[in-house]
Amino acid sequence: MQAASTVYASRIQRFRLPRVCIPVVGEDPGKILERAESLVRDNSFMEFRLDYLTNPIAGLPKLKHFLDMHPEATVIATCRRALNGGKFKGSGSAQLEVLTKAAATGFQLVDIELQSAEALKPAQLADLKDRVGVILSFHDFKSTKKLDDTFLSMKRYPADFYKVVSTATTLYDNVQMMKFLQAHSTQFEMVALCMGEQGIISRVLGVRAGSIFTFGAATRGEETAPGQVTASELRDTYRIEMVDAATQVYGVVGDPVSHSLSPVMMNTAFRRETVNAVYLALHAKTLKDLLACVHEIPIRGLSVTIPYKHDVVASLSNSDALTRQIGACNTVVRGQDGKLYGFNTDVAGIVVPLEQRITLAGAKVLILGAGGAARAAAFGLKSKNAEVFITNRTAEKGQALARQSKAKYLKRADVAKNSFDVILNATSVGMGNAKQSPLEEKELNTKYLFDLVYVPAETRLIKMARAKNIQVIPGLEMFVQQGARQFEIWTGKPAPIAEMGFVVTKALERMATENGWELPVPKNGTGKSEPQPEPAAKPAAKKEAATTAAGKKKAKIPAAKPAPKAGKKASRR
Ligand code: ATR
Repeated sequence: MQAASTVYASRIQRFRLPRVCIPVVGEDPGKILERAESLVRDNSFMEFRLDYLTNPIAGLPKLKHFLDMHPEATVIATCRRALNGGKFKGSGSAQLEVLTKAAATGFQLVDIELQSAEALKPAQLADLKDRVGVILSFHDFKSTKKLDDTFLSMKRYPADFYKVVSTATTLYDNVQMMKFLQAHSTQFEMVALCMGEQGIISRVLGVRAGSIFTFGAATRGEETAPGQVTASELRDTYRIEMVDAATQVYGVVGDPVSHSLSPVMMNTAFRRETVNAVYLALHAKTLKDLLACVHEIPIRGLSVTIPYKHDVVASLSNSDALTRQIGACNTVVRGQDGKLYGFNTDVAGIVVPLEQRITLAGAKVLILGAGGAARAAAFGLKSKNAEVFITNRTAEKGQALARQSKAKYLKRADVAKNSFDVILNATSVGMGNAKQSPLEEKELNTKYLFDLVYVPAETRLIKMARAKNIQVIPGLEMFVQQGARQFEIWTGKPAPIAEMGFVVTKALERMATENGWELPVPKNGTGKSEPQPEPAAKPAAKKEAATTAAGKKKAKIPAAKPAPKAGKKASRR
């Protein structure tokens, strides 16, 4: 037995393990095998969930074939009991029999819950550990609490890895998990994370705090735990294999944020510019929860979205003049002094694409809406001496913004009677659907139509504008420009705008296909190409504008999240 143990020990040394383990499930061994065969080339670390099998012991000989054929793979055998959240209905001794036989089959690791270990005789656990690497696990499917107390109980049992999985109900639960990991991972081989949508960040930050590996789903739809992201997202978007203690943490914060394309775009930028940083989606249900996290996790910068753009301003130590005027902040930097500083890059997101096409001084611009995006547009465009008009569903709000920004208010009934250089949609109408439009076709008397909505890429409003040969500026440009400015504020480096635009375009195309929306039309209604934006003033943008699509290195494009469900207030980020 001892010889076998040495063999296994050498095969499961922490530095040899990939950072992501993929759970594989199936009600018969054939399904597990089929799935494992298709995954093994790109994923050498898997967990076979034997508890999903109707008869785990009977399935082992078939699985042995896979293990024999793939010595490069490290596979965990898990047979979680129903009373601990799994599917195995047998007794503790029946579970031990499955795991012992799994060891003989050639699995390198077995997972056994603390509750099962507690019911075993010490000699039984020692015998199992002699045969195979043991992961002693504990799962809390409701909360994140008493982690240290739980670990005190776990440490009494010898194991190769200690796995602690809780459920995050706040962002701060992730902080608790990080602290727990930091306290124990220097002494013990730890694997820890929080389940649930709010725990997603722990899957990346856990590795940074000392978790030897984490779990990722094979594909979307194959998750075995709430909040599990896919292995390819962990590797391609979050670059989990590179994350270490020196990795800087950034994120987009809002409620909701799961649909956000910012992680795909910003992580692409960090990778392209070789910045050791990771950008996460932080789902905060309260500002208090967010601020508690920001002070405890060393977050270097935040993109702020609905509903916190306004409220976060009061928590900033300082901000730029436009942020104060607009009363909304979409970019936070944490200084070396730990204080929070705010900027509003939505303004650049609106102004830069327009300045690439027209001279704003004296241009007649109609803004639709009076919310956060409209405020950024109004103050930003006035600062460039444009002649700004505002119309809004709720007239009082529109009039108030017009007064504050020294713009003119236009009644909706008067829109069709006027013509503009630019009509800019800063309402949320058209977001997440291809049917709604904030204006009718006859009201579109303009040279340029800039729709800040970018999901879908081809909105109803854009389609109407194309039909009238109006030059279209898609919301994607605003999204990329505001993100590019954030990148520059945070890193001091020029943003790789072309790559950022490329990954977001691909993600939008995928969303359009998934939702049955039209794909973005690269040409206008006349069949002529859209005018190409002139190179932006910044040297960074100049460099990127010169990069041709054909000359670009093909980036790995992680799948975008599905579009937000209708009815849910979604942000533009
Ligand atoms: P954001 O931060 O994205 O700008 P917001 O602050 O909630 O979002 O603002 C949304 C804007 O879209 C508002 O101007 C809103 O009009 P009201 O001020 O009347 O609420 C506008 N809006 C939302 N739904 C609309 C609809 N169905 N028709 C017209 N305008 C709409």
